[in-house]
Amino acid sequence: MASLTVRQLDEALKKRLRLRAAKHGRSVEDEVRNILRSAAASADEFGAPAAPNETTRDAATREPAPRAAARRVLLIIGGGIAAYKSLDLIRRLRERGIAVRVVMTQAAQQFLTPLSAGALSGERVFTDLFDPASEFDVGHIRLAREADLIVVAPATANLMAKIAGGHAGDLASAVLLATGKKILLAPAMNPQMWSSKATRRNLAQLIADGVALVGPNAGEMAERNEAGIGRMAEPLEIVAAVEGLLTNTGGALAGLRVIITSGPTHEPIDPVRYIANRSSGKQGHAIAAAAASAGAEVTLIAGPVNVPDPVGVKMVKVETARDMLAAVEQALPADVGIFAAAVADWRTDHNSKEKIKKTGTGTPELTLVENPDILSIVAHLKTKRPRLVIGFAAETEKIIEHAKAKLARKGCDWILANDVSAESGVMGGDRNTVHLVSASGIESWPQQTKDEVAGELIKRIAAELKERAPKENSPKENSP
Ligand code: CTP
Repeated sequence: MASLTVRQLDEALKKRLRLRAAKHGRSVEDEVRNILRSAAASADEFGAPAAPNETTRDAATREPAPRAAARRVLLIIGGGIAAYKSLDLIRRLRERGIAVRVVMTQAAQQFLTPLSAGALSGERVFTDLFDPASEFDVGHIRLAREADLIVVAPATANLMAKIAGGHAGDLASAVLLATGKKILLAPAMNPQMWSSKATRRNLAQLIADGVALVGPNAGEMAERNEAGIGRMAEPLEIVAAVEGLLTNTGGALAGLRVIITSGPTHEPIDPVRYIANRSSGKQGHAIAAAAASAGAEVTLIAGPVNVPDPVGVKMVKVETARDMLAAVEQALPADVGIFAAAVADWRTDHNSKEKIKKTGTGTPELTLVENPDILSIVAHLKTKRPRLVIGFAAETEKIIEHAKAKLARKGCDWILANDVSAESGVMGGDRNTVHLVSASGIESWPQQTKDEVAGELIKRIAAELKERAPKENSPKENSP
């Protein structure tokens, strides 16, 4: 349909249209076009894709369509080289039926144009706090309100500082200050900036304020010869975090206490040396984050790791297997225990107080003794055993066979078995392929990000406890 002529409009309506058009700084024809688009989109999700014959320019200048039932994300793009990944993020979110409205900071526009973000989101992109077209009805408040979740990706050091400090001098920070909705940050910056005292302070403040985080990951930086923690999480990881926050708000684990162990343990040999392993803590921490966002009261007992503390969990940081066991015992009772830590199996029988010196007469002899098996101890508890005890099996061969043996030996309800051979890239990597082994069989999950594995596990736990509830609550046969 190339054009449309509407005759016999009454004078009152014409007058209202003229006033409305003037307020928006548009021609009457443009105003009518916008009203029709909004009306058409209201039957749809907001941010319905641009019509096939609509130019990206039209899409970028289109008025936001009214609220509808779709899940809605307001994506704030900050000014960093990782901004290029945000375009893919928009696409991935929309593929999952999540409507995306975009705000770009001034700095972000040095890396991307509003036109490209608008073409992908199918909506006008917002850039100015004092935009006459949107501020006539206090647009920054509306943007903050008309979203289920606000995602900041990339969240630069500057943006994090502004949010932590409550600034409101530009559209992005004003929206973030004006919102009561959950905020998810995907930080991206140089490792030096990430570990700076100022960013640590801002991060602590943001976590205390209930802001959720995804990443940053370790890896190569855009700057030559720079590597470390500071890479923005990959779009699919951000999507998993978004899905988690959007779907779990119903509180699938609300009212439940969950204990999770994560990371490696360090077993000292002397004051400078220790026995350790390659566990990064990513999987255990992702499970803790997913459980917390599903409404559980989570205690995360973690060995030494370099990943950020998840939001909304009680952290207990430990070093050795024996410290970890003591912390678990202290955190009991709980409804669910998830033992994702790669606990060192052995420690030395003697922890030298002084640094062991080379004597020139041979190598020192280290005698190893076995550490307590935390999972097995908890699974065999008589009174304080959690209703659901879940272990992991880190295997490099005969994965299912070993996992089945571990399930029986350790007395837990489920084992999540994973291949941790060097070729799998699981240890320290971002993806995982797990097999859920239980008395009722083996279920192999596809390869997923660790966040996705965490989300899936939380769903399974919620379903299992729901299924068991009638049996657990029914009076015992012998009871009076
Ligand atoms: N685990 C534990 N305490 C230990 C050792 C393991 O709680 N001292 C838990 C882990 O957190 C995991 C499960 O037991 O949930 C299996 O850990 P894994 O390292 O795969 O097995 P191990 O028992 O150490 O056996 P092996 O090293 O022989 O494979």
